[in-house]
Amino acid sequence: MSKRAELHFDGNVYELPVLEGTENEIALDISKLRAQSGLITLDVGFKNTGSTPSAITFLNGEKGELRYRGYSIEELADKASFLEVAYLLIYGELPTEDQLTKFDTGIRNHTLVHSDVLEIMRGFPASAHPMGVLSSLICSLSAFYPNSLDPYRPAEEVDLTITRLMAKLPTIAAWSYKNEMGHPVNYPDNNLDYCSNFLKMMFSLPTYEYEIDPVVADALNKLLILHADHEQNCSAATVRIVGSAHSSLYTVIAGGINSLWGPLHGGANQAVIEMLEMIAADGGDVDKYVLKAKDRDDPFRLMGFGHRVYRNFDPRARIIKKSCDDVLEKLGVDDPMLEIAKKLEQVALEDEYFVSRKLYPNVDFYSGIIYRALGIPKEMFTVMFALGRLPGWIAQWKEMREANQPIGRPRQLYTGYTLRPYVPIEERA
Ligand code: SDX
Repeated sequence: MSKRAELHFDGNVYELPVLEGTENEIALDISKLRAQSGLITLDVGFKNTGSTPSAITFLNGEKGELRYRGYSIEELADKASFLEVAYLLIYGELPTEDQLTKFDTGIRNHTLVHSDVLEIMRGFPASAHPMGVLSSLICSLSAFYPNSLDPYRPAEEVDLTITRLMAKLPTIAAWSYKNEMGHPVNYPDNNLDYCSNFLKMMFSLPTYEYEIDPVVADALNKLLILHADHEQNCSAATVRIVGSAHSSLYTVIAGGINSLWGPLHGGANQAVIEMLEMIAADGGDVDKYVLKAKDRDDPFRLMGFGHRVYRNFDPRARIIKKSCDDVLEKLGVDDPMLEIAKKLEQVALEDEYFVSRKLYPNVDFYSGIIYRALGIPKEMFTVMFALGRLPGWIAQWKEMREANQPIGRPRQLYTGYTLRPYVPIEERA
């Protein structure tokens, strides 16, 4: 017998279905609430509102658990390749050897980007943030593949668009870095695996042949897996709502990139390093910055701390923190920012303000330390997040489209003026 809830309002009783997910989460189905009662719900920031059923990612904020299609993030980060995880998220199952080879080969054969996209990039100043370049150039791909504008394309054409995005985003991401550095771009090498190809495009120079360091490639593989999806986060919700209008997938992903760029979301990884640099420049006085973060009159926040869903350690932060020591030791890097980060974490986790609000380090708190050790500049940190999150965005879009969900169009509670007559300009105060 399915559970039901009763809403008593204005002398009436309305029955509302209660839905239960596979992890025993329960949800009040209000899809017919307005028709039944004239009522809508209001939940600014959607802190208590589910937008969709989904079978892609499960996270338990209280326990700090994260799973992609049922597999734990710990196992996937430890045993899988990023392309295996991308395939799992997008198509729902871990690929067989043949499926992975076909997926990987398809991506390798589409890494080249039309030379006119490079001309568009050349219009950006070197001062342009790589996230703005990335979202603009990914959106521009809709001009080079106009078929993608027709949302009712056959499945194999949708798969081709998915392959093109997986293949071309790393190339364009590396180019956005070269644009910022004022260096000539590198072209993809289809003989290399996904992570090695990206690193080579990022760091090779006409005067310097970049040697792929397996420690760096392995760390990047793990970081991309950890960032691959995170259920209905801000950018995934953006992707779903833009996609619900049946826009081209290229424009949908550009929307996700723009949402991720915000410092409260994926942009936090760059903001964490800038915060640590500021603390270092100020004599490393972490207590002073913890006090600032607690002061409601001070806009300063402890970047990389807190999370909408996790009320425990972000499991990704736990894995990345462990990798930090490992990667820095293997690369022989001694980064003073790591010690400041660890001290800041220790002080915050013992402070009542953070403990009472269940504020813990999130995925962004330590990721920048590893990116720095890999030689990636802080302006590229959120681009790295986008590189990892791409398969998650694609999976969320695909699930929404295959479920034939309606266009997303929330209601509102109007609080403005009631009807009033026009006032001629000469009569206005
Ligand atoms: C990501 O959603 C996802 O899954 C996102 C993500 C993903 O994989 O897609 O996990 C990636 O975006 C991680 C979050 C990165 N952002 C940051 O690190 C920025 C710093 N964190 C905060 O701005 C904040 O914690 C958010 C934005 C992450 C969450 O904000 P919420 O859920 O809206 O919480 P809130 O702002 O209502 O905070 C609740 C209380 C408030 O204090 P009171 O009103 O109770 O007095 O906690 C305080 C906040 O002031 N608070 C902080 C804080 N975060 C929350 N105080 C100081 N420093 C912080 N970082």
